[in-house]
Amino acid sequence: MFICICNAITERQVQAAVSEGATSLSDLQGQLGVASCCGCCAETATEYLPGGRYASQAAVSHAGALVADAANDPGHVLVEMVEVAVRRA
Ligand code: FES
Repeated sequence: MFICICNAITERQVQAAVSEGATSLSDLQGQLGVASCCGCCAETATEYLPGGRYASQAAVSHAGALVADAANDPGHVLVEMVEVAVRRA
């Protein structure tokens, strides 16, 4: 799932940044570029920081056991784009 549409930043990228030590929106802005354009994603991104509504999900992601790829993660989009290109060829 995309958190920041302007910069194509996914939930997994935000979770990884938090797992690697990001503790503020400023950290996420510096590392990923979230909330650096329209700012609509700032509140959602903040919820992944320690103490936020989705903070525990970051810990699960870090463990790597329970989080599967989201349907619209960039890897899936690339595969779908290649499949469409092959079908058109
Ligand atoms: S959606 Fe993140 S800056 Fe616009």
